[in-house]
Amino acid sequence: MDKIRIIGGNTLSGRIRVKGAKNAVLPLMAASLLTEEEVILHDVPNLSDIRTMTKVLEHLGAQVSFEGDTLRIKANNINCFEAPYELVSKMRASFWVLGPLVARFHQARVSLPGGCAIGTRPVDRHLYAMEQLGIKIDIEGGYVLASGKPQGNKIYFQIKTVGGTMNALMASVLANGTTEIINAAAEPEVTDLAKCLVKMGANIDGIGTSHLIINGVEKLHGVSHTVIPDRIEAATYAIAAGITGGQLYIENARLDLIENIAFSLNLMGLNISQKNDCLFVKASSNRLKATDIATEEFPGFPTDVQAQIMALMCLAEGTSTVTENIFENRFMHVQELVRMGADIRLQGSRTAIIKGVDQLSGAQVMASDLRASAALVLAGLAAKGETIVNRIYHLDRGYDHMEEKLRSCGANIERIKEKIDE
Ligand code: EPZ
Repeated sequence: MDKIRIIGGNTLSGRIRVKGAKNAVLPLMAASLLTEEEVILHDVPNLSDIRTMTKVLEHLGAQVSFEGDTLRIKANNINCFEAPYELVSKMRASFWVLGPLVARFHQARVSLPGGCAIGTRPVDRHLYAMEQLGIKIDIEGGYVLASGKPQGNKIYFQIKTVGGTMNALMASVLANGTTEIINAAAEPEVTDLAKCLVKMGANIDGIGTSHLIINGVEKLHGVSHTVIPDRIEAATYAIAAGITGGQLYIENARLDLIENIAFSLNLMGLNISQKNDCLFVKASSNRLKATDIATEEFPGFPTDVQAQIMALMCLAEGTSTVTENIFENRFMHVQELVRMGADIRLQGSRTAIIKGVDQLSGAQVMASDLRASAALVLAGLAAKGETIVNRIYHLDRGYDHMEEKLRSCGANIERIKEKIDE
């Protein structure tokens, strides 16, 4: 199992290019099942999650090729309607093939994902949406069995769900009649999916809002689509500049996708500005200042940057608070940051109180999930001495060549390849 070794203390300076968003590519890959024509996705990152989704599509009979950063998918020979446990349990987003399979083939057998490191994460709202569309749902042997042709209807999400909205959207584009998705998630990745579906021939109104209206069409066709930039990756590198007191040009990044994060980083002492397709991030020469954040659905502060900003708060002057409103168990990084000398106290399961310290010190730490891994790397960049981040496969799920990008800007960071571990 690979590890990452960092000797902290180097100030970062240079340019880092952000790739297309993982969380946009995964549903777009699922959406390729909606047509027999070729779907071409550009600026796709090289990540293990993308490889897992590739395996799901290939299991169904689709042809997938990945050259450079272009992914080509052709689903003209689908001969199986099952997403197996081995793949869905590895990556929850595999569950998103449910909507497109039901839309085009009127049947699906998809494993229930089970819990994961950041919470129980049920799929009840996905299933509710399918049932609203008239799909018969049975649960058997850990699998969801879905059958029937979707019929347009109202889907009201009592609580917003990104994946549930995407599944509902993909299930309804080929439905008979009109579907309304009320209280839909409006994350940029949902918007990117909706825009791509429109390019494929879907009829969707209200894109970018929490009220989507879909008029079912007979058929969708192929598409060539450039994926939106990864706002979480961009924010992670902005924090890397801040935590090392450096400055970075983050290419292919959009301020409008990270406004809320930029606002908080600004309060902490980072200057962030848009220069053409780049974000320019510069740490101020004064010490970072404490602030408070609470995670919310878009356009609120994203849960996917909560761990990374906490690493920054560990070194800020004063006391910061972080409230996690989306997931019930997304503080696994706290004890690891504490091992590096951070002063963090949990209040209940949703709030962390972070008292800034002058210095973190390098340590052996364990990554528990994707964004927690990123937070530990960030802390390691600023810590005194050596940090070893174990279980780095989590990082490889969502960051394309992170250590190379950071090294090119002056970080002392390397990957240690190991065959056997734990
Ligand atoms: C997506 O997960 C992202 N994953 C997550 O990114 C992200 O943290 C999350 O949205 C929130 O923004 C991908 O895009 C692949 P939800 P998703 O449905 O769709 C509960 C990362 O680090 N819920 O909006 O699974 C759920 O348990 C990842 O890149 C139900 O109760 O998130 C959670 O508490 C991690 N029932 C909340 O809703 C359901 O049927 C929000 O989940 C569905 C969700």
